[in-house]
Amino acid sequence: MVIADLGAGEGTVSQLMAQRAKKVIAIDNSEKMVEFGTELARKHGIGNMEYRLGDLEDVPIRSGTVDLAFLSQALHHARHPNRAVEEARRMQGPDLTRWQYGAYLRIAVDNPVIHQVPLVGKYFDIGPVPMSGASSTVKQTTRTLAPSMRMDADLGDWDRSLLNVQIGQSGQIFSSHYKDQWWAWYYARSFPMQYRHVEVKSTLEFVAK
Ligand SMILES: C[S@@+](CC[C@H](N)C(=O)[O-])C[C@H]1O[C@@H](n2cnc3c(N)ncnc32)[C@H](O)[C@@H]1O
Repeated sequence: MVIADLGAGEGTVSQLMAQRAKKVIAIDNSEKMVEFGTELARKHGIGNMEYRLGDLEDVPIRSGTVDLAFLSQALHHARHPNRAVEEARRMQGPDLTRWQYGAYLRIAVDNPVIHQVPLVGKYFDIGPVPMSGASSTVKQTTRTLAPSMRMDADLGDWDRSLLNVQIGQSGQIFSSHYKDQWWAWYYARSFPMQYRHVEVKSTLEFVAK
């Protein structure tokens, strides 16, 4: 896939994306950044990354030629953020089925032990699956980082607190609770955490609510 990293700065994120993308075009309106980033990419031997001097609101990339227009900590710099967003839309083209963020952000969870076992190990892996979120969103997820647990603590009424762990509560691969929370985690759903009135049945069975 071809990615445009808009307001790329020194290109730290661009370089990470270049590991999987066909090509990354890094855009920045600072000549110094473009110079510095180009040199850094050259030093790291990254051949599929190109830096261009340009503005978020008038990006030097043809319409419909990128699969993903990416803005990380950059949109707030635009004088007219709506124009920058419109530029991102233009570059990705009018066909929304081509806008596949999930093709870029894919999550795989491998059990560190059983995954090592040849042939059998891979049956216990989860994913890869397309994922939403980014390093700076509420659903913080990147290719190398994701929460292992999510908890909403209601300090006014503890019984209304919610909890979800990434795949399940058991680390034992043959347990039915090994990955029974995975889809809840994936779709950002949680389970009641009962402090005062523990209903043993629902607590033990982890019925999604
Ligand atoms: C906070 S840095 C983010 C760098 C990188 N995207 C990251 O997440 O690490 C913002 C960058 O946006 C660039 N920038 C600011 N206004 C811009 C504009 N109007 N057009 C293009 N780049 C811009 C700055 O030069 C700076 O390198």
